[in-house]
Amino acid sequence: MSAPLWTWPEVAAALKGAPLGDMPEGFCGVSFDSREITGGELFFAIRGVRMDGHAFAAGALRAGAGAAVVSSPDEEMTGAGPVIVVPDTLQALQALGRAGRARVKGSIIGVTGSVGKTTTKDMLALAFSDIGRTHAARASFNNHWGVPLTLARMPRETRFGIIEMGMNAPGEIAALTAMARPHVAVVTQVAESHIGAFGDLAAIARAKAEIFTGLEAAGVAVLNRDMPHFGILQAAAKDAGAAEILTYGRHEEADIRLLDAASGEACVCVHARAGGQDISYRVGMPGMHVAQNSLAVVGAAMALKADLSVVIQALARMRPPKGRGERTRLAAPGGDILLIDESYNANPASMRAALAALAESEPGRGGRRIAVLGDMLELGEMGAELHAALADELEAARVDVLYVSGPLMAHLWEAAPAHLRGARVAQAAELPKILRGDLRAGDVVMVKGSLGSKMGPVAQALREMFEPVTDEA
Ligand SMILES: Nc1ncnc2c1ncn2[C@@H]1O[C@H](COP(=O)(O)OP(=O)(O)O)[C@@H](O)[C@H]1O
Ligand SMILES: [Mg+2]
Repeated sequence: MSAPLWTWPEVAAALKGAPLGDMPEGFCGVSFDSREITGGELFFAIRGVRMDGHAFAAGALRAGAGAAVVSSPDEEMTGAGPVIVVPDTLQALQALGRAGRARVKGSIIGVTGSVGKTTTKDMLALAFSDIGRTHAARASFNNHWGVPLTLARMPRETRFGIIEMGMNAPGEIAALTAMARPHVAVVTQVAESHIGAFGDLAAIARAKAEIFTGLEAAGVAVLNRDMPHFGILQAAAKDAGAAEILTYGRHEEADIRLLDAASGEACVCVHARAGGQDISYRVGMPGMHVAQNSLAVVGAAMALKADLSVVIQALARMRPPKGRGERTRLAAPGGDILLIDESYNANPASMRAALAALAESEPGRGGRRIAVLGDMLELGEMGAELHAALADELEAARVDVLYVSGPLMAHLWEAAPAHLRGARVAQAAELPKILRGDLRAGDVVMVKGSLGSKMGPVAQALREMFEPVTDEA
C-alpha cells in the first residue's frame, strides 16, 4: 500500500497539538467540510464568519474522519473519535500547509492577478498534468484557508503544484506566498477589483507584487506585459531577486508575444512568438482574455524548461470553468439560444473581456446579442462611475439588448443608449420571468455579475427553462 497523504507522526510534528484518543496510522485527505468526509480524512474545525466547524466535528468523526483538529473539545467529540487539541485550528491548518509545501521536491507555480487567476490555474493544471504529477485545487481556494488547504492536500510526490492566490487587502498575498513559496510567480492582470480597499490601481499593483516576496531562490516571474503598472511589478520582481522575468502579451517587447488570436464559439486559436520560436495552438474555450492567460502557461513552461509542445497541445482540452464563460445551447421554438454563463464574478476588467467575447459570438438567424448584467460589487466610491463607463463598451460589443439588475447597474441603464434598453429590475430573481418572454431563437445571451449579485441563479433558470440541446450521436 502506498503511504497515506499524511502519517500521524507527520501530523503530530506539524501541528504540535495534544492528542486525545487512539490516533490512526495516517490520513488519506484533509477537509474542514464535514459533508466531504468519506472516511480516513483529517478534519479541521475552522471558525468561519457564519459557522463554527466545532459544531460539525463530532459528526465528521462519526462519518469516518480519522481525527478532528479542534481548539475546544467536548465530550461528544472525544466520544466520537480521536481529537487533536490545538490553540487555533486555522493556524494549525496553515502549519500543515507549510509542512505539505516543505516536503514537495517539485515546482510550485503561484498565480495572482485581479482577474484570470482561476482560468490560468486550470490551464496550468491541465497542461502540466501531461508532463508529471500535478496538484491544484478544484475551485478558486485562493485565500487564508484555501491556500493552506491546497498545500495540505498536496501529495508528497507532486512534481507541479499550482497555487492560486487572491486578496482583498494589502499584506494578504505576502502571507500566502510565504506559505506557498513558488518557483514561478505569475501575475495575470491589474484591474479595478476590490478597488474600494485600495484607492488606486498602483496600490493594487503593489499588493499583487507581494507575490515575489515568497519567490524561491532562482525563481522566475511571469508577467503580463500589457497590464497597467507593469513597471511596478517588474521592479518588485527584480528587487525580490527573481532570476528571470518573462513577459507575455501584445506588447512588442514581450518575451512571449501574441501575434494573432482568433476567438470562435468554442475555442480561441493563438499565434505567438516565444523565445525566438513561432508557436500556434488552440485553447478549448473562447475569448481574447483566454488567449492572454494561455500565454502565461507558455511562460510557466519556459520558466520550468518543460516541453512546450506537450503544454500547448494540452490546452486544446481546456473547458470553461463553471460560470466563467461556460456555453450552453438551449432549444427554443424555431432554433437555438446560446447561453454564455459568466455569472461567477465581475469587475470592470472581466466585464470588458466578457463583452468582447460576446461581440465575437455570432447570433443565429433573427437573433440578437443580449447582455444580462448584475452589479459589480466591492468597487467602493467609484462604483457608480465604473458602471456608467460600460455604456461605451456595449456598442463596441455590438450588444442589441441590455437587461440589468441592481442599484449600481441602474447607472449603466441611465448611460446606455435608449434603443438598447430591454428591462431594468431591482433584484436578479425578477429576470428569469422577463427573459422567458423576451428571448428567441438565434439569441446569444451573456449573463454576468459579481457573485453577490446572484446572476448564477439567473443562468441556471435559463438552463432549466429551455431544454439544453444535446448533440445527436
Ligand atoms: N486576463 C484576463 N483579462 C481580463 N478578464 C479576464 C482575464 N481572464 C479572465 N477574465 C474574466 O474574468 C472572469 C473571472 O475569471 P477567473 O479566471 O475566475 O478570475 P479570478 O480567479 O482571478 O477571479 C472570467 O469569466 C472572464 O470574464
Ligand atoms: Mg479565482
